[in-house]
Amino acid sequence: MRVLGRVAIVTGSGSGLGETMVKRLAEEGASVVVADVNQAGIDRVVGELQAAGRTAMGYKVDVTSQAELKGLMTAVTEKFGRIDILANNAGVVRHRPFLTMGDEDWDSVLGVCLKGVFYCVQAVAEIMIRQKYGKIVNISSVQGNGAAPGGAPAATSNYAAAKAGVIQLTKTLARELGPHGINVNSVAPGAVMTPGFLKSRPPDQIEGHMEARKKGNVLHRMGTPEDMANAVLFLASEESSFISGQILCVDGGRMDRL
Ligand SMILES: NC(=O)c1ccc[n+]([C@@H]2O[C@H](COP(=O)([O-])OP(=O)(O)OC[C@H]3O[C@@H](n4cnc5c(N)ncnc54)[C@H](O)[C@@H]3O)[C@@H](O)[C@H]2O)c1
Repeated sequence: MRVLGRVAIVTGSGSGLGETMVKRLAEEGASVVVADVNQAGIDRVVGELQAAGRTAMGYKVDVTSQAELKGLMTAVTEKFGRIDILANNAGVVRHRPFLTMGDEDWDSVLGVCLKGVFYCVQAVAEIMIRQKYGKIVNISSVQGNGAAPGGAPAATSNYAAAKAGVIQLTKTLARELGPHGINVNSVAPGAVMTPGFLKSRPPDQIEGHMEARKKGNVLHRMGTPEDMANAVLFLASEESSFISGQILCVDGGRMDRL
């Protein structure tokens, strides 16, 4: 039991990678909070966790709303007394060629993927500072690290800019929050089949994109949600207590980053 007795919130855990992260943390002894904008996803995941005998609560929240996040943190501390782990996983994609990218494309992706992380950390920081303990894991992306030459995911300037922002935010927050006993790290996933991945490009391009991603890493396979959840678990556990400000690329060894 690697996070026994800890209280963990995972944003965007009503589906995709976040769902596997929240289940993995619960398996390892944490009381977990399924925080998502999608109520049906929350109900399904909380139901599955509780059926497996885990301690879980659901909370509908939009990470772009400071007021809703305040409500989340209050509800969690009222129920569990503390918040030890926050995995900032909620994200959206809205790929568009740069020359036709509009304000709405830019603001919605930057809003959820980057400003959402800023809001979530600000909402939880006071609680973690009071506890003198906290583990924050921000989900960035290989796309925040550089663009791949040839076969690069096209039309992702908004998403790549947001994820690069998450990487730099992780490093600066590690510096500011470290003296309070809070570790801030990031997991940068490579390609993993999820509902979000399927939305990232037209259906007829998915197969080709998967093949390109497999060829583009040294292990020649797609990542799995478990690969990402295990990395988050490590950074949320005491095994990583002397690690902060780091970006853990879980990408099969992609060598094509600039
Ligand atoms: N799947 C991949 O290949 C991949 C690769 C690199 C990075 N990532 C990152 O991993 C994270 C999870 O991705 P995924 O593929 O599981 O996506 P997904 O679309 O399958 O799941 C995202 C979840 O976030 C929730 N969400 C969206 N907007 C929200 C908001 N405003 N407030 C609260 N919740 C919100 C959705 O309801 C959904 O449950 C994202 O940050 C994504 O950018 C994914």
